[in-house]
Amino acid sequence: CGIVGIVGNQNAKEILLTGLEKLEYRGYDSAGIFVSESENEGQLIKAVGRIANLREKVSADVNGTAGIGHTRWATHGVPSETNAHPHTSSNERFVLVHNGVIENYEEIKTDYLAGVNLIGETDTEVAIQLINVLAEKENLSAKEAFKKALTIIKGSYAFAMMESNQPEVIYVAKNKSPLLIGLGDSFNVVCSDAMAMITETKEFVEIMDGELVIVEADKITIENQAGETINRDSYEAKIDVADMDKGTYEHYMLKEVDEQPAVMRRLVQEYTNEKGELVVDEAITSRIQKADRIYIVACGTSWHAGLVGKQLIEKVAEIPVEVHVASEFAYNMPLISKNPFFIFISQSGETADSRQVLVRVNELGYESMTMTNVPGSTLSREANHTMLLHAGPEIAVASTKAYTAQIATLAILAKATGMVKGTAVAKEFNLVKELSLVATGMERLVGEKEHISDLVKANLETTRNAFYIGRGMDYFVSMEAALKLKEISYIQAEGFAAGELKHGTIALIEEGTPVIGIITDEVMGSHTRGNLKEVESRGAATVVVSMEGFEKEGDHIVLPHVHELLTPLVSVVPIQLIAYYASLHRGLDVDKPRNLAKSVTVE
Ligand code: G6P
Repeated sequence: CGIVGIVGNQNAKEILLTGLEKLEYRGYDSAGIFVSESENEGQLIKAVGRIANLREKVSADVNGTAGIGHTRWATHGVPSETNAHPHTSSNERFVLVHNGVIENYEEIKTDYLAGVNLIGETDTEVAIQLINVLAEKENLSAKEAFKKALTIIKGSYAFAMMESNQPEVIYVAKNKSPLLIGLGDSFNVVCSDAMAMITETKEFVEIMDGELVIVEADKITIENQAGETINRDSYEAKIDVADMDKGTYEHYMLKEVDEQPAVMRRLVQEYTNEKGELVVDEAITSRIQKADRIYIVACGTSWHAGLVGKQLIEKVAEIPVEVHVASEFAYNMPLISKNPFFIFISQSGETADSRQVLVRVNELGYESMTMTNVPGSTLSREANHTMLLHAGPEIAVASTKAYTAQIATLAILAKATGMVKGTAVAKEFNLVKELSLVATGMERLVGEKEHISDLVKANLETTRNAFYIGRGMDYFVSMEAALKLKEISYIQAEGFAAGELKHGTIALIEEGTPVIGIITDEVMGSHTRGNLKEVESRGAATVVVSMEGFEKEGDHIVLPHVHELLTPLVSVVPIQLIAYYASLHRGLDVDKPRNLAKSVTVE
């Protein structure tokens, strides 16, 4: 979910709506704003679906100098206007937006809210009713009631609260969920991500867990739990507004697929010195080379990049690597080695599941690094080190250029660490040259859109399900390929280890079931070809994505030859395009698929 807020600006309504549009990547099930001006009580408008729906409902006579807004990714309660934020207390005195999950909301209901009529199904409504009950019963001011409620509420949250007849103040607090204050010229803003308000200000102030912040037009006051005032310097957010533009593209996803060759070149530039040698912050490589084991923790596409990263680090830097899904690791931590190093991979740097593990890793005192596309993101701030992906803002929900940037950055890390350790493979691995070959190869592949679109029409147009198979690196890409297809075309897809398919899953193959084989290694590939034959003889419609120079037969896509450790960087490109055209041909919303959020900020 995403939060915005503003105090002291005539243009409050528009700034809130624009801010929410920029935060849509955090969820777009429903949205709402509360806008208030001195003499009136404020107006609350909510809509199900995209911000565009909300915008349509906000009439011209909604005006004010302050307000709060929210875009939701449903957790407790279906997407509906009732469950959309902002939520109000029964007497409409308090208005609240919330990102996160309140864990003890049932307890709060029983202990504090007997007799209070709850209209929706959300934990947020419980929070605002609690604040109101505390204010009424104990005759507390808004700030005192908010503060007291924070001692009762358990869970993750970013809160922005207003009193409906008090358009001068927003009360803000956070625990585990991100929230920033932006400093304007005689106005101030609140937002989940600096990107939401970057057109209003570049100057931001961090808030720490447990603090309470009072935001007014001309000042902000940060208080710690003891009630002491904290002074904190602001920082400048480095976001290029032009990067967020779709240009002439119909969809961000296609633009981002096309940007991949440029991202590869940018990464080489960012991570080389004047002698043309790859360099990574010495604090990182010298620490990692001493690690007896590396733990990669991530979710979704970033986890898939991590699987490739394991191969790169083990082969080039010769350090054992384990790759874990964050949400599993958090509850089922494996036995940790004596001298571990943690790598968190996260495009957004905000994923709550990954952050939960990082918080635990910090408590245990282990050293860590975040590999992220967003400088200053939560995971980046909270880990000891950061490596940036330099992919530029990724807006489409389906991750493309961040995935390839993650693999390239992992390769750079593996090479740099291997060089410090002096491994033979690292010395021979001319990564600068290899990545430049990858960039050229990617350029050729993104030029094959028509061919890929036709293949999709022939094989995936009406299918209900599909399979991707491969071995080794190709297996990891198969997993990413299936995820991409599911995310945006809603075709039920599975990425499978080619050899394992026959041990059960082959039962799902019917006449015309698409099975796409990825083959970038000739030896392993001969077995995958065998597996493709097995499914063909059971009626499957097969497509082969294979390296140039390999045997060609039937429907196929030819990949340019690249270094064996970097094949996912090229094999994934046609796979991204297959997903894109499958979604496009079905008339779906490519950039904003149903039920998803680009960054899931709840566990
Ligand atoms: C969400 C997105 C996925 C993404 C995952 C991890 O589920 O829909 O596309 O891979 O989060 O995101 P991160 O920002 O941590 O890489």
